[in-house]
Formats: sequence, structure tokens, C-alpha cells
Amino acid sequence: MPALSSRSQVAAFMAMDVLREANALEAKGRRVFHLETGQPGTPAPRAALEAVRAALDRDPLGYTEALGRVPLKEAIARHYGDAYGLNIDPARVVVTTGSSSGFILSFLAVFDAGQKLVMGLPGYPAYRNTASALNLEPLLVPAGPQTGFRLPLDTLAAIEGAHGMLIASPGNPTGTILPPEDLAAIANLSDKKGWHLISDEIYHGLSYEQPAKTILSYAPDAIVVNSFSKFYSMTGWRIGWLIVPQTMVRTIERLAQNLFISPPAISQVAATAALSAQAQSELNGHVEVYRRNRDVLAAALKHGGVARTAPATGAFYIYADVSLHCRDSAELAPLLLAETGIAATPGWDFDPQNGGSWLRLSYAGAATEVAAAAEILAPWLARRSPR
Ligand SMILES: Cc1ncc(COP(=O)(O)O)c(C=O)c1O
Repeated sequence: MPALSSRSQVAAFMAMDVLREANALEAKGRRVFHLETGQPGTPAPRAALEAVRAALDRDPLGYTEALGRVPLKEAIARHYGDAYGLNIDPARVVVTTGSSSGFILSFLAVFDAGQKLVMGLPGYPAYRNTASALNLEPLLVPAGPQTGFRLPLDTLAAIEGAHGMLIASPGNPTGTILPPEDLAAIANLSDKKGWHLISDEIYHGLSYEQPAKTILSYAPDAIVVNSFSKFYSMTGWRIGWLIVPQTMVRTIERLAQNLFISPPAISQVAATAALSAQAQSELNGHVEVYRRNRDVLAAALKHGGVARTAPATGAFYIYADVSLHCRDSAELAPLLLAETGIAATPGWDFDPQNGGSWLRLSYAGAATEVAAAAEILAPWLARRSPR
């Protein structure tokens, strides 16, 4: 067989590999605690499910416009007024097949092959791997414990030859929210450098102290990537959105027409209803469950001898330093799964430089599951802790 492309040689998404192994174990009858992926334990909001049931009988659910249905784009634009006090023209909203296709569309729209894209480490693996598959060069800037899991502005300022920058707040795997002054400084720096600024805001709505700010309040021409997967509890519906500058809309539309034709119609029906006031109050209730889950899991890690975690102020992950418990989290995670049924993701997924010291645990699941996992996790870790 002829050789496969070199750009397809991207790293696996380890969290998804762990999910496959955990599912296989579960299929054999083993009790498994799914702390490996950011999968909410709740279904889509009731209003979304009702809207879908009604649509099945009366809506042909065929192709939609490539940029999405107008009522959904209008509802997303209104959300920017309600959540951030911003006036966004619905014409700047692009409905996508999950945020994952939003990254492909935005990378293709603004970068040529070979160009450099700055991003922080640790970070969501698909940023690097999608960029590499599109022949872009990820420029990885350490933003770990040394900088309080914030991007070091002096390092960013010294970068030459990049074409854009990708930020995420709250971040994955850290769950850390960047303070407004960092967003303002990044916007300012990016403007001075002439970079395209892309902000992944998929964990907005999931914050436990201050609500996260959108980069659009500081950089009106930034590209925002967002999704119904996390706060809206709709991962499998594969529906997300972009906010792009007016001047970029037609470019994105041409790409979207050719690459995806349209986002799924049924998911657009669900997403429109998920933005209703009724759904919002249901979804806000989930945030309180996540907060309690976070506290339970953080206490278990502490009892287990974990001395350091990233500030878990948003999203639904704890990024824990397990260097006292193992030589390498890639060895610890399979052992943890085999001995306790707890699935978690080695830090290598998020950080190809220092990932061996870290483990990411998701607390997005049901409170009973997270509590049961925490009870098993604390003594298991404590047995491995030297203290
Ligand atoms: C930071 C971040 N961005 C994007 C995604 C992809 O989400 P979607 O389901 O919208 O494609 C994820 C999924 O876990 C994520 O954690």
C-alpha cells in the first residue's frame, strides 16, 4: 500500500483512547468511573429534547444554510447581549458541527500552510494536532505551575514570526480562568503583533468564582470558538458556533459549504431551544452540582497526598500533580483503571513536555459517581504517596 500522508501522523487524543479502554472494561461487567472525558452526566436540557420531539413530526430536517439557521444565529447573538452586554450582529455567527469543526474553519480561514500559531502548554490536544494536520506549526509556550497556569506575557511579547495565537479560558486541562487584565494584555499584544487571535470559550458558563469574560470585550476582531457540548450538556449533538469579524463571514461560508455543507439540522433545533430562558435555569443548576463535585474530588486528592493542582476555577477538570505518586502518569493511569475502575487521563495528552507528572480528572459526571470515585481514589493514592 502506498505511504500515508506525513500530516496525518498526529498524536492520538489519549482521553479518547482511555475512554475506549474504559468502555471495554465496562462491557466485561466491571464498574467503571468515567473521569477521563469532559462528558456531562446530564442529557440535553428538557426544552431542547421537547423541541426535537416536535420537530421530528413537522420539519424535514434537510440541509440548512452552511452558516446555520437564522433563528439559531439570532439566539446566539442575543446570548452575547445577555451574558456579556455585547451587541453582536447575527450575521457574524457561524453555526458549526461542534467547536472541533470551528477550529478547522478558523485555522483554514486565517493561516497558510507553514505558519506559526502560538498556544499555551498544558492545553487541549486537538489544538496542536488539528494545527499540525493542517500543516501549521504550533508554537508551544509553557504556561504551567511556574506562571500560575497563566500565559507569560513577557515570553509572548518576545515571540517573532508567528501569525496567530490561540487562548482558552477557562482552560482544559487546568480549569483555570484567565483574569480580565490578562485578556486585555493579550488582546493588546496580539493587536501590536498583527496576530489573528482565536479564543476557545467552550467552558463559558462553567465558572465557580467570577464569570469568564469573552475576548470580544477586549479584541472586537478576535475569532471566538464556542459549543453546546459543555455548559449546554450536548456533546453528542455535535453543535457549536463561531463569532467571526464581518469581513471574514463570506470566506468562512465558502469553506463551510465545501467542507461540511451544513451543521446537523436536528441539533440546530435542539441548540435554539437550549438557549431559551427555561433551559438556562436548568443548566445553571448543573453548575452547582459541578461545584460540589469539584470540592469532593479536590478533597480526595488532598487526602491522597496530592500537593499541587491547577486553580480549578472553571470548566470541570482538576489537573493534579501526581509526581509524588508515580514516575510517569502514563503508567499510573492504566494502573488506576485496572485496580479501581477509575478512568483518568495522563497529562501527556495536554503537555508533551511535562505531562508525565500530571493527571487530569473530570468531575463532569453525576454527583453519586464522582463521590463514589473520590472515596476509592483517596486511599488508593495515599498508599502510593511517600508522605
Ligand atoms: C477546550 C476544548 N475545546 C474544544 C473541545 C471540543 O468540543 P466539541 O464537542 O464542541 O467539538 C473540547 C472537548 O473536550 C475542549 O475541551
